[in-house]
Amino acid sequence: MAKDIDLSTITKAYAKWAPFYDAVYSRILMQGRTEAVRAAMACGSDILEVGVGTGLSLEDYPTGYAVTGIDLSKPMLDRAAEKIRAKNLTNVTGLCVMDACRLGFRDGSFDAVVGQYMITLVPDAEAALDEFARVVKPGGEIVLVNHIGAEKGLLAMVERAVAPLAKRVGWRSEFQLGRIRAWAEGAGFAVVAAKRVGFAGFFTVVRLKDRRAADARAEAA
Ligand SMILES: C[S@@+](CC[C@H](N)C(=O)[O-])C[C@H]1O[C@@H](n2cnc3c(N)ncnc32)[C@H](O)[C@@H]1O
Repeated sequence: MAKDIDLSTITKAYAKWAPFYDAVYSRILMQGRTEAVRAAMACGSDILEVGVGTGLSLEDYPTGYAVTGIDLSKPMLDRAAEKIRAKNLTNVTGLCVMDACRLGFRDGSFDAVVGQYMITLVPDAEAALDEFARVVKPGGEIVLVNHIGAEKGLLAMVERAVAPLAKRVGWRSEFQLGRIRAWAEGAGFAVVAAKRVGFAGFFTVVRLKDRRAADARAEAA
């Protein structure tokens, strides 16, 4: 798989974004965020938010949930920590600088692993998804929300054309749903929903359900 965005590009880009991120993105990303959090909450109370950024989603989880947030960018996490303090978000059990591809958690730690607007930025997205699969509890879900690139047609051509520019500001425009589906098929997960949200359906919320134990039981029967 092409490793065309490196971690230092991302950390540099988000160090610059951190002071302005909420002002620019809070509203634009709201609908996807609400849908992703709703899907995660339905899985259970132990939630991992990968690429939690400035923590825009943290206050959407009510009391009774235990949310852990990780991110590559310390300046983004510093903003999240400020929110936690200012809003007394007791549902957040930890924040940590960590790479999505090297999660420091035990196998089966979380009911849901959520990646909001981040999976397309990971150089080796499949390696990150492997890690999400490792730390999710049996039967749990991986919930992703992102702009997913068009597979064909004019929009696909435009997205490929602007891809180099998008990468420079920490975005990726051409990542396709087929890549997530292919990973899921090989990893024992089922794509149980892919819902378009936001203006003109620009973002897609994808729910991936762990089928590994269920598939093994069916095979043994
Ligand atoms: C577009 S922001 C989204 C932030 C937040 N999830 C939200 O919805 O507002 C992408 C975030 O993913 C983080 N990120 C990118 N690659 C990452 C990686 N490999 N591991 C952890 N975090 C990563 C970035 O540092 C950034 O904070």
